[in-house]
Amino acid sequence: PPLVRIMNLADMEEVARKVLSHKAEAYYSSAADDHITVTENARAFSRFFFHPRVMRPVGKCDPSTTILGFKSSIPVFASGAALAKLGHPLGEVNISKGATTTGIIQMVSSNASASYAEIIQAAPPSQPLFFQLYKNADDAVAEKRIREVEQLGYKAIFLTVDAVIPGNREKDVKSPWVTEDLERGSPKVHVDGEVEGGDTVFGTAGALIAHDDRDLTWEKTIPWLRRMTRLPIVIKGVQCVEDAVLAAEAGVDGILLSNHGGRQLEYSLPPIEVLYRLRKQRPDVFDKLEVYIDGGVQRGTDVLKALCLGATAVGLGRPFLYAQSAYGEAGVVKIVQILEREILTGMRGLGAASVKDLKPEMVERVDWEPL
Ligand code: FNR
Repeated sequence: PPLVRIMNLADMEEVARKVLSHKAEAYYSSAADDHITVTENARAFSRFFFHPRVMRPVGKCDPSTTILGFKSSIPVFASGAALAKLGHPLGEVNISKGATTTGIIQMVSSNASASYAEIIQAAPPSQPLFFQLYKNADDAVAEKRIREVEQLGYKAIFLTVDAVIPGNREKDVKSPWVTEDLERGSPKVHVDGEVEGGDTVFGTAGALIAHDDRDLTWEKTIPWLRRMTRLPIVIKGVQCVEDAVLAAEAGVDGILLSNHGGRQLEYSLPPIEVLYRLRKQRPDVFDKLEVYIDGGVQRGTDVLKALCLGATAVGLGRPFLYAQSAYGEAGVVKIVQILEREILTGMRGLGAASVKDLKPEMVERVDWEPL
């Protein structure tokens, strides 16, 4: 269908699922065990309702913000997701171009299928890009990767800590690689070793992270990373209040509350619920670092609920993969435009003329199950 017929992110996903290969669809949509967490990530937003304020001037409404000091047209970023070329020949480059056009920031996966250079060079030097790091078990190999992305001009390191082992993604494991898929998005790309194709037990994720550090710690890994780089450091994959507090004590610049889109530990709490608990139990943490969430975000109102609770911005993983699979760069531009329109509608409805007007009192967690 022509792009004008795409009204929302669900429409985009529907188109993508029709054009994706069997393997690509399985890899993108797969999640741990029985897909409870991936489903609840999205559904959990529906337990939060607004207390909109009226009689507040919203004729001029500005949805822009800054993330780690970098300007973003809306409080949304692309979370790092592997193997975008499985969905479209240009893969991650579609996202970097679309992000540039719309003024948002892309976090590039360690397991990107286009080269880190290709992706950043598709954007002008003024466009910030962040880098998602899977730390190799060998410090020297990890250091080499950090040096590479620093030199290329990436502006922050998002260290992923929730995937020291691959989650149990049966849909991915069951779906075989065919030659065409291997050409477009082989797990060999960027893997520092000799793993070929998908592992028969752990699937694509198993192949991609086979050489990564399984012994990350607050005491050892964070000081090591600080010594390695002066870039801002964000911990991606914090899943409870206690670890958010430890991250603040470790002195990192941000945390991304995330359960990897439900792909790692089944029954990890939805990130919006973790954010809600953090706001209630440890509001001081928000003064020490920036807090983001990702997982299950589909609508502008989802973004606004997170912002009311104190998040600086919200990440989306699958929606960007689906959008670039369906329409390339234009698809990426389209979903950002949709989100921007939805965010503006939501902000005006809430009586918020800028993101700083979004407050915790504007959301309530209800104890009944909507619909
Ligand atoms: C991911 N995610 C991910 N995270 C990461 O740190 N490194 C990676 O390489 C990947 N790869 C990846 C591939 C695919 C296909 C998906 C769907 C996800 C997790 C990603 O960054 C993000 O946390 C989730 O995708 C957020 O959930 P939603 O927006 O997909 O619901």
